[in-house]
Amino acid sequence: MAQLLERSQILLIKLILLVPVALLLLTIAGMVWRSTSPVEAGVAVDQPIPFSHKHHVGDDGIDCRYCHTSVETTAAAGMPSTSICLSCHAELFRDAPALAPLHASLRDGKPIRWNRVYDLPDFVFFNHSVHIGKGVSCLSCHGRVDQMPVLVRHEALDMQWCLDCHRDPFRRVGDPKKATSMHALPPIDAAERDHLLRMLKLEDRQRLTDCSTCHR
Ligand code: HEC
Ligand code: HEC
Ligand code: HEC
Ligand code: HEC
Ligand code: HEC
Repeated sequence: MAQLLERSQILLIKLILLVPVALLLLTIAGMVWRSTSPVEAGVAVDQPIPFSHKHHVGDDGIDCRYCHTSVETTAAAGMPSTSICLSCHAELFRDAPALAPLHASLRDGKPIRWNRVYDLPDFVFFNHSVHIGKGVSCLSCHGRVDQMPVLVRHEALDMQWCLDCHRDPFRRVGDPKKATSMHALPPIDAAERDHLLRMLKLEDRQRLTDCSTCHR
């Protein structure tokens, strides 16, 4: 008996049927995520040690990358190990009660468990190094961390927020070496802008808003 449909047509029909299913699954995952994720923008999270970014970054001028060591090279920014803290606090404020968990962590060989402030659902793909590589600053996504005695979420991390920048990323890119600066970069002229954009080799905008860029 003759085939009613070509194989390629069958494939197309399958694909057309699959897209709504994928969307439905994403929507359900989104609803479940929203009902279980406790952190909202502006809300403080309890931490095992009362760590202050205002003191360490704002007053003491320590660069983000000293503690968030993998932010330029991997998807995750990374949280500081006990030994990074102890590089100063082995001597400094050694006996402060607030630092007792650090010494316990070293003794027991168990890392400090920092509670997450920013957390995306598993069905969203995010990568720090891609953003830092194009000079999108910590400031543009995490706000004035250097003024936060207690770190709070600056953005809700909803999809619209990602898309707003991905539709017009050219305004938000800069010199990757200055990505950890907590001050907005001074305006640059058209020639410098052209040079920067050539150096950064940006992807086309279409790709940045494709569903599969963030949902893989
Ligand atoms: C490069 C040195 C350095 C490193 C690394 C460092 N600190 Fe500090 N820390 C300081 C200094 C300096 C102060 C005094 C801050 C001030 O008053 O400006 C301080 C103060 C503190 C205090 C006292 C409370 C306060 O903020 O005044 C705590 C708690 C603390 N640090 C925790 C940590 C933890 C946890 C880490 C690792 C994630 C860490 N520190 C890494 C230098 C450091
Ligand atoms: C001395 C170490 C240190 C430095 C320097 C530092 N941080 Fe942190 N950072 C921490 C620690 C410890 C935590 C976990 C405790 C907390 O949330 O305050 C943290 C948490 C964070 C978080 C929240 C992570 C989460 O749970 O989702 C962000 C965002 C962040 N830091 C951004 C920055 C930026 C931006 C800079 C530079 C402007 C910076 N940090 C510099 C130690 C540091
Ligand atoms: C384009 C926006 C954006 C930029 C730029 C950005 N972050 Fe993040 N950051 C996020 C998002 C989104 C998350 C949550 C990631 C997740 O849950 O997978 C996050 C999470 C974090 C965390 C939590 C731990 C981790 O490894 O994910 C830290 C720490 C952090 N960022 C530090 C930084 C620092 C330091 C910089 C600058 C060098 C920076 N971020 C730049 C959006 C950004
Ligand atoms: C402030 C601007 C800004 C925000 C906010 C932002 N991005 Fe981006 N994103 C960029 C830029 C710039 C690039 C690099 C584009 C390029 O290479 O041309 C990028 C690239 C990416 C890529 C890599 C695309 C590739 O090349 O494969 C992913 C994935 C991504 N972003 C996810 C996210 C997610 C998820 C969010 C929200 C949680 C987000 N971004 C928020 C500016 C931003
Ligand atoms: C730049 C990154 C990015 C792109 C591109 C993107 N999304 Fe999302 N999407 C997200 C983030 C981040 C969330 C999680 C939002 C939250 O937790 O509130 C999300 C959540 C969702 C959800 C769950 C429900 C909800 O609204 O939270 C659905 C469904 C979804 N996306 C569909 C899509 C479709 C369809 C496209 C293509 C038209 C798309 N997304 C493109 C980042 C992106």
